[in-house]
Amino acid sequence: MKKTSPIGVFDSGFGGLTILNEIRKVLPEYDYLYLGDNARAPYGSRSFEVVYEFTLQAVEYLFSQGVELVILACNTASAKALKTIQQKILPFKYPDKRVIGVIRPSTEDINLFTRTNKVGILGTEGTVKSQSYVLEVHKFHPEVEVFQQACPLWVPLIEDGEFDSEEGEAIIRKDVRRLLSQSPEIDTVILACTHYPIIRHLIEKYIPVGIQLVAQGEIIAEKLKNYLERHPEIEEKLSVHGTLKVLTTEDEVVFDEKTELIFGKNYHSETIHLI
Ligand code: DGL
Repeated sequence: MKKTSPIGVFDSGFGGLTILNEIRKVLPEYDYLYLGDNARAPYGSRSFEVVYEFTLQAVEYLFSQGVELVILACNTASAKALKTIQQKILPFKYPDKRVIGVIRPSTEDINLFTRTNKVGILGTEGTVKSQSYVLEVHKFHPEVEVFQQACPLWVPLIEDGEFDSEEGEAIIRKDVRRLLSQSPEIDTVILACTHYPIIRHLIEKYIPVGIQLVAQGEIIAEKLKNYLERHPEIEEKLSVHGTLKVLTTEDEVVFDEKTELIFGKNYHSETIHLI
């Protein structure tokens, strides 16, 4: 088997980089191809059909670049497009390729975090409305009660680089308080959008001591490691030069400037077109 495939990582915009950065700490040897659909972000308030269509375009683009395994590092895409791609597209068009998401791995071990069995979810409107977290948590841990709060303005604030403003912080404060007001017993809050770790410092200000804030990056990285150990038929196709190539549907200069601001790092991206 030729080891020629990078691992594909997809997000609507910058958020997936928070996942990719953690994955690369745990699995630095692999090559990665990141794709951010920044030109069409946010996905959060878009319809099921549109998120599905955009996500499929991105996945097929990554496949066309030789990718064998794609991680949907986007909760909205995982909630609205993953199942259909896995069940209706892959078996017929790409039987040897794999697409995996971030919701199931983030919920499987939720019992290790909560003592009160009351868990809060902060996510996009699409993720919250899909009920994916409620369904997945209950599948593994029916005793855990899930409280959700949609934060429709957070991703636009992040994509536009406006989060560190007074107005931005007021929006974040209001949404966090709305979540916590649903139950005084919530002891664990999941950042169920891959963009949110970027504003973790602001979210944390409004999370009382004693409540655990869980970001997905480290969890996904460990779960991916485990997935590759269990799937040697995929692992043996992955190339191992430790490289990273970043693609965006936005202007590459704008993408690089913003990621430099957000992550303190220039990703030297390349613009591509999905349509
Ligand atoms: N990072 C995506 C997620 O995890 C953001 C969705 C959006 O573009 O609104 O849900």
